[in-house]
Amino acid sequence: MNDTTPPHMAAMLLTGHGDIDQLVYQQDVPTPTPATGEVLVKVTATAKNNTDRKAREGLYPTKDKNDVASFAMGGTPTLTFPRIQGADVVGRVVAVGRDVDISRIGERGLLDFNLYGSQRRDLNLTPDYYGHGADGGFAEYIAVPSDQFHHIANPDLADAELAAMGMCSYQTAYHMMTSASISAGEHVLVTGASGGVGTALIQLCRIVGAIPYALSQGDKADALFALGAEAVLDRADMHNFTEQVKAVTGGAPIDAVMDLAGGKMTDLFIDTMIFDMNARQSYPRLSIAGASAGNVSEIMWTRIYLYQVQLFGVSHGTREEAEQLMEWIRQGRLKPVLHAAFRLSELHQAERYFVNRGTNYLGKIVIVPDSEWAQHGAPFALESISTLALEAAQ
Ligand SMILES: NC(=O)c1ccc[n+]([C@@H]2O[C@H](COP(=O)([O-])OP(=O)(O)OC[C@H]3O[C@@H](n4cnc5c(N)ncnc54)[C@H](OP(=O)(O)O)[C@@H]3O)[C@@H](O)[C@H]2O)c1
Repeated sequence: MNDTTPPHMAAMLLTGHGDIDQLVYQQDVPTPTPATGEVLVKVTATAKNNTDRKAREGLYPTKDKNDVASFAMGGTPTLTFPRIQGADVVGRVVAVGRDVDISRIGERGLLDFNLYGSQRRDLNLTPDYYGHGADGGFAEYIAVPSDQFHHIANPDLADAELAAMGMCSYQTAYHMMTSASISAGEHVLVTGASGGVGTALIQLCRIVGAIPYALSQGDKADALFALGAEAVLDRADMHNFTEQVKAVTGGAPIDAVMDLAGGKMTDLFIDTMIFDMNARQSYPRLSIAGASAGNVSEIMWTRIYLYQVQLFGVSHGTREEAEQLMEWIRQGRLKPVLHAAFRLSELHQAERYFVNRGTNYLGKIVIVPDSEWAQHGAPFALESISTLALEAAQ
């Protein structure tokens, strides 16, 4: 650690499963020390993700749907308390551990948020992440592996904007697509389209030459078109959904669905792929990475196996996918979709705003340490929010 790094830092501690009162802001948390192979990062912006709330509330049951549980893919639960959440971290290297080149000090970078279970570059079987199984970025400093803190110079990209392109959304989106082998020219239905993963999916479809159809809400249509959506369908009206889809695809079936909604909606999504199997050139594919509309879907297995629907469960992604995404960010091929920034000490307000989001909410909320607010947060502060959203956030 260098001499100017303070021994204590401000951080938001998650003290247990439950409501936002479990989040406690403290200014005397020991600053981490970089271990061998790690860099110490002074945090300037960390994006909020759905998983912060889900992990806090224990909404990751895998056996009994009523369980209060979080990730335990390696066999044992890794979320222990107190924990600093926040996965998608941007900042600058201020110190290095042993075996890390000192020239890295000063680099601005974006964290690949995974706690990888192995060195495999093409496989990630036990998804876990900074902010869950280890401390994350809702703090002034974080120590992370040097090879997962990716240098992104791009001076045209503000730190808060870079955080909005964090891997929790982008790597998940990309892995949904690679799992389903999405290729150029394919019609892809993107659900939860205005969210962090959805906005990433629309952009990534365009990068690989696929045609994204967004399922969202009417007030977000213009922004989704601007991002690359071929058409925007309104989830408030799912009546004759397949007919609505045919109207925008020119009668063609959806080749693959990127499903972040789940619940009762998924069965309707399957219809859009199987209504005319003779018109298809490939198997119907359903990539699932979220459940914003419900964690349980009733689907007849005959629909899955007779129509040969291929199912892909997706959590996070691989090292090589993260590296590809970092390269696309450097090349300016991905655009940040940043909704607003909040101060770290106001994380409770940000959580309420995130849950009770109003109209025109698109993309990401970013959290900025109070000590960095003037430079990295204030330019992206929420300037005008609807009365409803404002009341909800109080
Ligand atoms: N498996 C993974 O590795 C992974 C990683 C990241 C996220 N996730 C999960 O993926 C989902 C999306 O994450 P995110 O970060 O994109 O979340 P987000 O930014 O909160 O966006 C979620 C979007 O889902 C849509 N939505 C909300 N309620 C809905 C409902 N009742 N029915 C249908 N759609 C609804 C909304 O978009 P519209 O208004 O546009 O419809 C909303 O903006 C969440 O369930 C999250 O936990 C999983």
